[in-house]
Amino acid sequence: MEFQLKATDNSTSARSGAVTTAHGSFSTPVFMPVGTVGSVKAVTREQLEQDIAARIILGNTYHLYLRPGTGILEEAGGLHRFCGWDHSILTDSGGYQVFSLAANRKIREEGVVFQSHIDGSRHLFSPESVMDIQRSIGADIIMAFDECVPFPAEYRYVRESMLLTHRWLDRCIARLRETPPKYGYEQTLFPIVQGGMDRGLRRQSAEVIASRGCSGNAIGGLSVGEPEDTLYEMTDLVCGILPPDKPRYLMGVGTPWNILEAIALGVDMFDCVMPTRNGRNGMLFTAGGVINIRNRKWADDFSPVDPDTPCFASQQYSRAYLRHLFVAGEILGMQLASIHNLAFYLHLVKQAGEHILQGDYGPWKDKMTKQLRQRL
Ligand code: GUN
Repeated sequence: MEFQLKATDNSTSARSGAVTTAHGSFSTPVFMPVGTVGSVKAVTREQLEQDIAARIILGNTYHLYLRPGTGILEEAGGLHRFCGWDHSILTDSGGYQVFSLAANRKIREEGVVFQSHIDGSRHLFSPESVMDIQRSIGADIIMAFDECVPFPAEYRYVRESMLLTHRWLDRCIARLRETPPKYGYEQTLFPIVQGGMDRGLRRQSAEVIASRGCSGNAIGGLSVGEPEDTLYEMTDLVCGILPPDKPRYLMGVGTPWNILEAIALGVDMFDCVMPTRNGRNGMLFTAGGVINIRNRKWADDFSPVDPDTPCFASQQYSRAYLRHLFVAGEILGMQLASIHNLAFYLHLVKQAGEHILQGDYGPWKDKMTKQLRQRL
């Protein structure tokens, strides 16, 4: 994987660049649609590629391991072949899902023993097994196995957990050195900074992660219920320590305005379920603010969902029709809302990149943030 830094903004720490993997290039800042089980919910790969213009999507080790399982994925020749996506894929390690979804988990030095949320069967995730599973999935960028601590948490717990995440990282690195890729192309490991909401621990974690010299780095353990100011404070602190010549990935964040603020702090990569999950619930993001499409006020608004987002779902369907689909419980409503929201997120970060190149990212971000937060 290569990262080419193209420009840094004048008044903020925002950067524009490009990442190249074995499956092509994408420009940064980038938003990665979440395709947990190898499917971005309610969206086809043709829509992802053509209408949303995505060039990297995210999958989850936890889900793909439980279903369809590594046997089927290997038989298919990896996840790219299995789902027919020929652009880049990043997989999360399960270090988040095992804590948010699995039952009866027990954390040990060795790893995490848990029960599947699907059928209750028992499994062990260790740094080694999670690297092996990600070799079988074959994503271009793979994540280290970590523990994401809940918020709030006791200082001593956060510290112990962070140290465990660092030891697990070294086991991930060792395992990858011992095991070649299964499909002939390079897979790049991103380690994950933890440390909760404590400045000292965050700094310590960022220093350890940076010292491992990986080709990209991630910031985890945020957007877990902390105040917005704390999210920004921790992101700023960590970005100041992670190397500037490597991409920085802020995991699971967030709202459109969270993303614009984090870009200003020096983050390059994002993922979040918000555009798809909230879209399925009738929440639409637009440059003018947030729309609850079920609201009566849209019943006779025959204007486009969002004329400024370059996508058929945004421009060629009316708010009144989309509201009707939601009220009538039609699955087409969920599809159109998901496609619009993803196209909106990707267009927003693309515009961010253009303003970084133009050198006016700061004022543009401040203006956009005010508008984006409005409730229409
Ligand atoms: N997704 C959102 N936050 C996290 C995190 O802290 N760790 C991992 N592995 N995935 C995440």
